[in-house]
Amino acid sequence: MKFIYGLSLAFAASATALEQQPLQHGDKQPNIVVILTDDQDLHMDSISYMPLLKKHIIDQGTFYKSHYCTTAICCPSRATIWTGRNAHNTNVTDVFPPYGGYPKFVAQGWNQNWLPLWLQDAGYSTFYTGKLFNAHTVENWNSPHPSGWTSSDFLLDPHTYQYLNATFQRNDRPPVSHEGEYSTDVLAEKAYGLLDEAVKLGAPFFLTAAPVAPHSDVNASTFVNPGTGEDLKGIIMQAPIPADRHKHLFPDVKIPRTANFNPDKPSGASWIKRLDKLSDTVIEYNDHFYRRRLQALQAVDELVEGLITRLEDYGILDNTYIIYSTDNGYHISQHRLNPGKECSFEEDINVPLIIRGPDVPIGETNIVSAHADLAPTILKIASAKWGWDGLDGSPIPLSEKELEASKRSRQEHVNVEFWGRGIPEGIYRFSLDDGKVVAYAPNNTYKSLRVISPSYNLQYTTDPGQLNNLYPTSNFLPEQTLLGLPLSKVLPRLDALLMVTKSCKAKTCVDPWSVIHPAGNVKTLGDALNPRFDGFYTEIAENVRFDKCELGYILESEGPQAAAVFQGDSGESEL
Ligand SMILES: *[C@@H]1O[C@H](CO)[C@@H](O)[C@H](O)[C@H]1NC(C)=O
Ligand SMILES: *[C@@H]1O[C@H](CO)[C@@H](O)[C@H](O)[C@H]1NC(C)=O
Ligand SMILES: *[C@@H]1O[C@H](CO)[C@@H](O)[C@H](O)[C@H]1NC(C)=O
Ligand SMILES: *[C@@H]1O[C@H](CO)[C@@H](O)[C@H](O)[C@H]1NC(C)=O
Repeated sequence: MKFIYGLSLAFAASATALEQQPLQHGDKQPNIVVILTDDQDLHMDSISYMPLLKKHIIDQGTFYKSHYCTTAICCPSRATIWTGRNAHNTNVTDVFPPYGGYPKFVAQGWNQNWLPLWLQDAGYSTFYTGKLFNAHTVENWNSPHPSGWTSSDFLLDPHTYQYLNATFQRNDRPPVSHEGEYSTDVLAEKAYGLLDEAVKLGAPFFLTAAPVAPHSDVNASTFVNPGTGEDLKGIIMQAPIPADRHKHLFPDVKIPRTANFNPDKPSGASWIKRLDKLSDTVIEYNDHFYRRRLQALQAVDELVEGLITRLEDYGILDNTYIIYSTDNGYHISQHRLNPGKECSFEEDINVPLIIRGPDVPIGETNIVSAHADLAPTILKIASAKWGWDGLDGSPIPLSEKELEASKRSRQEHVNVEFWGRGIPEGIYRFSLDDGKVVAYAPNNTYKSLRVISPSYNLQYTTDPGQLNNLYPTSNFLPEQTLLGLPLSKVLPRLDALLMVTKSCKAKTCVDPWSVIHPAGNVKTLGDALNPRFDGFYTEIAENVRFDKCELGYILESEGPQAAAVFQGDSGESEL
């Protein structure tokens, strides 16, 4: 039998509004509190060092263990969270202009089309304190002011990451320096003040507290725009600074020695594969860096308790959803990497997400979700009518019933994408196998795909430490198998899926298989592995590739865009 397939632009797929399904709740719309940390890991145990988070949120709600950020760096990730769109659709792909930062967010029109405005339309009052975006500065804070906030108090660059010299900017007032005060503690007081305001107003409210911990401390006096690459020589991203009261904690704790911790053999792809093994001196420093992160998180842990206690005292805790997450994950020494993020390894992309709320059961789940799902989740909690058009995610199941149903129906893929550089943090930079110390950040533009189901768990690797790259390279073993099938059968399916997800829009992000199999009979990789599609997948002419490695989303450099489409078993007659 001959299989015939045609081509269609993934872009052409319609961006119909997600169906809005209001929650069943009482007379009063629930309040929503988001606590968003910065660079917090799930894979180096940071959560286990936060007893108050455990007591008040983890032990009272659901831990979403397969939650992903899709672009592992602050500003693009935050743009995704607050617009409900992947970075290739916000085109906020970097932390600084020209490809990212607050000015790019504004230039793309998102300041007029994002979650706080949609929530205000739904009757909510909206509050925010802490870090919003990179390149939101003491210069541009009012040109324009972020829209949609009833009351706000933003951390501003270049002082955002200075734990002991933060600058905050409240409503329409000029920026105020907090030299000598501890950033997270200043933020906690502001969050409590905003909560008081919110309660006084009486409307249902949305409140975000976004401390910088456990991000590196960045000394503003040496801060330069990484958009120009080599200038990074001057940047010092040192270990985070804890509050004085926490500096003595965890003296003997070390980074978990997992299989991928400073491995004997190089791993990963591209520049990562060229990294030298880290020396004992570097590992000792990295362990110190790790402890500093855990210590810096203690003030966040106290903030969690502070918020919960106040919600309880106001008698509104039972009608409030609390969402705890972070913008992206973090690695220290895994795959021989010095402290940092921006990679597609689990350490960087699989991030904490914990939700407690009126109908959220206590427990944990492995259903797949991503940051683009947070805006739809919040819109659904708020019974919002506006904002649903063009969202790349779908509401995360919250109730027992929804969680159960989603086991059968929810997507199993996460689109992972990055443009720009891999930036080493800490005092040591990267050292490559040729002995060259890389004082700047290497090009790190890539696309990847994460696929998870009860019977498979893939990202072009299958081992838990992600040490073995399955993608055909010079040492590719043709006899290697995956899911009991030859690699040559599975990889074309993954490539075809990636061809869709890398440029998906709205519905096609949620159900990318529908682009390849418009008949609607393929919903998962498992379905696509049906031998009746073997011919179709082996004949696909073009794989995902870049024509040029750019630092931003330049369509002309992004290689083929057209996804292959299966026309049916009797394809000839359909042409
Ligand atoms: C703290 O920030 C202010 C600006 O807000 C600046 O004038 C001052 O020099 C900074 N202090 C230190 C120690 O960096
Ligand atoms: C930043 O670095 C400069 C130069 O090394 C130093 O003088 C200054 O004290 C540092 N500031 C902070 C807030 O760490
Ligand atoms: C990194 O990307 C920039 C911009 O595309 C390019 O000019 C430069 O040659 C690249 N460097 C390497 C080492 O590939
Ligand atoms: C994304 O933004 C950059 C910088 O403004 C621009 O050059 C590029 O064409 C944009 N990409 C898309 C796909 O619109």
